[in-house]
Amino acid sequence: MVVSALIMTGRGGLPGTFASTERARHLVADALAGALPGEVLDDVLLAVGELAANAVRHTASGKPGGTFAVVAAVKDGLVQVAVIDQGGPTCPAITAEPELFAQSGRGLAMLAELGEWGWTGNTRARLTWWRRPLTAPAPRAVADAEAR
Ligand SMILES: Nc1ncnc2c1ncn2[C@@H]1O[C@H](COP(=O)(O)OP(=O)(O)OP(=O)(O)O)[C@@H](O)[C@H]1O
Ligand SMILES: [Mg+2]
Repeated sequence: MVVSALIMTGRGGLPGTFASTERARHLVADALAGALPGEVLDDVLLAVGELAANAVRHTASGKPGGTFAVVAAVKDGLVQVAVIDQGGPTCPAITAEPELFAQSGRGLAMLAELGEWGWTGNTRARLTWWRRPLTAPAPRAVADAEAR
């Protein structure tokens, strides 16, 4: 059953600026706050911020006139968010081993710790998604707990 599903950013999307990443977080928070436990919403907002920042930093969405869109849904015990960008030459990929003091290269690795992520698309447009269960700990946390 769909508890909450929405495309917040409308047909034109949000301008591809870092200010819009904050706007995206607020839109998702306003839309989903009542549907999620607080700690889950924290993860969701972190994911939205990271995915939106990637759209701005790594794709044509961040070029003058560029836009990106955000989708969020709570469905079947999962919360899912996605950012749709305007593409570029690189693909979303976890940086294998960022330098110890590197200031970047950690966003997607962090999202993989908090849930599952993936992408689809091509050089002209990509949709990058992240999801996690509403109640159970994120998959990686379960694995860690069992290993102890
Ligand atoms: N939407 C995207 N489109 C194209 N390439 C992407 C996208 N998102 C990420 N990437 C690629 O994947 C790499 C890893 O992304 P990740 O978010 O983990 O690190 P980062 O954005 O470089 O740094 P940080 O997120 O720590 O500030 C990026 O450097 C970029 O090359
Ligand atoms: Mg990033």
